[in-house]
Amino acid sequence: MPAIQKTAWITGHKLRLRNAGEDAASFIFNLRQDPQRNRHMSATSPKLEDQRQWLARYAADESQAYFVIEALRDVGQPAASDSSPRSLLGTVRLYDAQDDSFCWGSWMLVPGAPPFAAIESALMVYRYALDLGFRAAHFEVQQGNFAVCRFHENFGAVRVGEEAGQIQYTLNHERMLESLHRYRKFLPSGIVRAPFI
Ligand SMILES: CC(C)(COP(=O)(O)OP(=O)(O)OC[C@H]1O[C@@H](n2cnc3c(N)ncnc32)[C@H](O)[C@@H]1OP(=O)(O)O)[C@@H](O)C(=O)NCCC(=O)NCCS
Repeated sequence: MPAIQKTAWITGHKLRLRNAGEDAASFIFNLRQDPQRNRHMSATSPKLEDQRQWLARYAADESQAYFVIEALRDVGQPAASDSSPRSLLGTVRLYDAQDDSFCWGSWMLVPGAPPFAAIESALMVYRYALDLGFRAAHFEVQQGNFAVCRFHENFGAVRVGEEAGQIQYTLNHERMLESLHRYRKFLPSGIVRAPFI
């Protein structure tokens, strides 16, 4: 059965997913506390130190992969190198592997993130999961998070249940491949990744 693996980075077209280290604590903390963005997310502690500790526990947890979404280059700027300031755009996480299906979530973008970031980050998650050997996905969206429901339904996700204010979705292998193909202009050359950690 496939397993979720961590990797230091995954490069896509205009984005890079970087494994979330403790140095990402204040960025993630601010995003999770942002009232413009956290309305449909489960609440996290209002203490920065708790976020840092969560990331320290995450580092030792082999069952999930949590990434900060970065812009590879700013518009009109040369490609970001490791020494240049990074433009941090959001977060995304893979967790809860069940047979050949993985769950993803903790998906957030900063207000004002470029419009391609949502689709490219979703495609990168699916590409990475397929490379790990998964064939399907499952996830939950809060009732009332209509734009995100629509986003997933456009990718072919199907509602399979509703419980405690959450809508449960699954995306099967065929729909995943179809969406990677349909939206290929957002991720034309697939992904390149660092070795697994
Ligand atoms: C979830 C989240 C990361 C999605 O990002 P987003 O930028 O809002 O995503 P959108 O659905 O608006 O899509 C971004 C752009 O891609 C376009 N797009 C989305 N799906 C598309 C599709 N299937 N085909 C073509 N274009 C598409 C949208 O029209 C939009 O473009 P526009 O800004 O020019 O209108 C973001 O809304 C967020 O951080 N929300 C708060 C946290 C949250 O609710 N997370 C989800 C928990 S389940």
